[in-house]
Amino acid sequence: MARFLMITSTSGANRELAAVFVSTATAKGHDAAVVDLAEMNLPMFTVARSKDPDETPDISDLVTSMTQADAWIVIAPEYNGSIPPTLNNAIAWLSMDWQSFRTMCTGKPVGLATHSGGGGAHVIMAMRQQFSYIGADVIGRTCMSGRDKEANPETIDAMIDNLAR
Ligand SMILES: Cc1cc2nc3c(=O)[nH]c(=O)nc-3n(C[C@H](O)[C@H](O)[C@H](O)COP(=O)(O)O)c2cc1C
Repeated sequence: MARFLMITSTSGANRELAAVFVSTATAKGHDAAVVDLAEMNLPMFTVARSKDPDETPDISDLVTSMTQADAWIVIAPEYNGSIPPTLNNAIAWLSMDWQSFRTMCTGKPVGLATHSGGGGAHVIMAMRQQFSYIGADVIGRTCMSGRDKEANPETIDAMIDNLAR
């Protein structure tokens, strides 16, 4: 049994996709939870804010969930050919404690998924680069869906099996 954390960066179709990953994982006997970065409503990262304890958000629950998970599935829509700001912003805040961030990310099995206006290929590429850079072990198979394309249940199934190694 593996513990999955589905990290959705928006609360619409991508959160719905996260719920499909959760039900697939739990049907296979795994543990699965969702964290919604949009719902966390983190302040925009700036260096000035990061140096002011009154302006620095408490992300300890997020860090605990991410650390305790055996695998993450990151689910984000494409924004202007890249990563949406909620995800980028969360990564900036998480990386403030750089050493523990690297420890948390290194070798973490990560799957990538999107529900985007178009195909979502650009956000998948951008997330692959981002999560590889921070040391995660990003699997090859990805789940891309959009206005004109349903998420493929076989892909979701295979991603869960691959990540639960
Ligand atoms: C600011 C902004 C930029 C967007 N840029 C793109 C884009 O470059 N490519 C694309 O396919 N869809 C783009 N979209 C559409 C979103 O990917 C799409 O609406 C997605 O389903 C939103 O996810 P959500 O329902 O979880 O909020 C953009 C949407 C917004 C709000």
